[in-house]
Amino acid sequence: MTHLHFFFHGRFAGPNATAVLVAVPPAVIVLDDPLRDGPEASSKLIGKAQGLTAQASQEGTYLLMVVNFVFKAGKYNGSSLAILGRFVPDVSGTERSIVGGTGKFRMARGYTVGNVYIWTASYFVLELDAYIVHY
Ligand SMILES: *[C@@H]1O[C@H](CO)[C@@H](O)[C@H](O)[C@H]1NC(C)=O
Ligand SMILES: *[C@@H]1O[C@H](CO)[C@@H](O)[C@H](O)[C@H]1NC(C)=O
Repeated sequence: MTHLHFFFHGRFAGPNATAVLVAVPPAVIVLDDPLRDGPEASSKLIGKAQGLTAQASQEGTYLLMVVNFVFKAGKYNGSSLAILGRFVPDVSGTERSIVGGTGKFRMARGYTVGNVYIWTASYFVLELDAYIVHY
């Protein structure tokens, strides 16, 4: 069992947007968001969250999130986790499934717990704890 703690940074606007709306309505967002070891934009980059979210509810904002967490630093450099689950913007305590992985995370199973650290119209930071059972 490995426990990782990191921060997921997303930016919807500006020249360096990392999450881009590609279809509306309903919303489909493609993202290539930095994962950092702290909540500041200057915190060390440890990987990227690459994938998409799609609005998947007729009421409220509930998104299906399908992303790979691709690690680019330290002992997990080159390894990845496949994340599948529900994304509820601006709500803390939401869990998502870890359905697989590559490299050091082959055969991974587990879950992430997300807490909203910063949420604005153009920028967000999620604090993530990932609990991973793997080889
Ligand atoms: C966009 O990214 C480039 C390269 O990292 C950086 O030099 C620039 O300051 C960034 N611009 C903004 C508005 O964040
Ligand atoms: C991660 O691995 C790649 C490919 O082996 C390498 O080019 C890169 O320098 C490594 N990055 C770090 C931060 O160790």
